[in-house]
Amino acid sequence: MNVRVTTEVAEADAAAIKAAACILRNGGLVAFPTETVYGLGADATNGFAVAKLYAAKGRPSFNPLIAHVSDLAAARLIAQFDDAANRLAAFWPGPLTLVLPKRAGCLVAELATAGLETIAVRVPSHPVARDLLAILRRPIVAPSANRSGHVSPTHARHVLADLDGRVDLVLDAGNTPVGVESSIVACIDGSTQLLRPGGLPRTDLERALGHPLMPVDAAAIDNGNEAPMAPGMLASHYAPRARIRLNADRVNSGEAVLAFGTNWPPGGQDAAVLLNLSERGDLVEAAANLFSHLRALDATGAASIAVMPVPSEGLGEAINDRLARAAAPRPGS
Ligand code: TXA
Ligand code: MG
Repeated sequence: MNVRVTTEVAEADAAAIKAAACILRNGGLVAFPTETVYGLGADATNGFAVAKLYAAKGRPSFNPLIAHVSDLAAARLIAQFDDAANRLAAFWPGPLTLVLPKRAGCLVAELATAGLETIAVRVPSHPVARDLLAILRRPIVAPSANRSGHVSPTHARHVLADLDGRVDLVLDAGNTPVGVESSIVACIDGSTQLLRPGGLPRTDLERALGHPLMPVDAAAIDNGNEAPMAPGMLASHYAPRARIRLNADRVNSGEAVLAFGTNWPPGGQDAAVLLNLSERGDLVEAAANLFSHLRALDATGAASIAVMPVPSEGLGEAINDRLARAAAPRPGS
């Protein structure tokens, strides 16, 4: 096994992308930008590489991975599309993941799907991810490129902060444009469920389907021992070190502030550290800033971060979902 102790970071130009494809082909790990967040990629067809990826991330191996493919034709080789899935595939390339029945003969390693009969598939739109997939000509499994339980990376420096020495190469393309992970929809046995709100708003999905998405059965999400339906939807996930105080209507002394809009709560003007998700109250801008602001506020060493209310429409659903997880009690604490 090639144990690497240093991580290379390269500006994501054509030569670097070629080198990345070569590393993947040889069973190595590459972090690369997608339009949502940076992913930690491995050749999906190489079980050994997938095992290394789980180890690098510190991820419980029952938590399955998303297979990234170059286009719909490649997706059809590994998954079965029903009517609803065909409609939703119109959003590809883009920030949408479909959980579908695995197709017989699917070459993705069993370990990547954690023994489930379904597979999560997505066609990313980021040009670097697309080039990498086009050169490799194999699916790439990629969870967000953070240590398990940490905030997702929206910049190459976030990847390094979490994974330096555990990944062979980081392709650096600056900030990721969307900033929250893909929306995940399961299309199975004729039902369509939103397993994770994300970069594609619910209203767009429901308009394409022509009907509302079904609510997710809570018991299926985090049932403790068996493989849950969307195992990553564990209560405490995107966990900064600081305590997160949601819907703050005032700021306590010493608290850092994550603001939205300009109607700051009492005490907000005097806060030592304040970062604004979007001064003009734009939810797209807020999603793009969410994880980097959380990381930056956490790095100030403040014991508590007061978060101002964020409306729940559009990308606000995904933003509030991630904030609720960041605020949830930590395992063992
Ligand atoms: O935007 C994204 O989706 C990013 C970029 C890198 O593509 N990826 C990402 O991957 O967020 P990850 O591993 O952090 O989250 C994927 C989620 C996990 O919650 C996992 O449990 C769920 O997808 N998942 C994967 N396969 C599944 C399956 N067959 N059934 C249900 N949930 C699945
Ligand atoms: Mg993740």
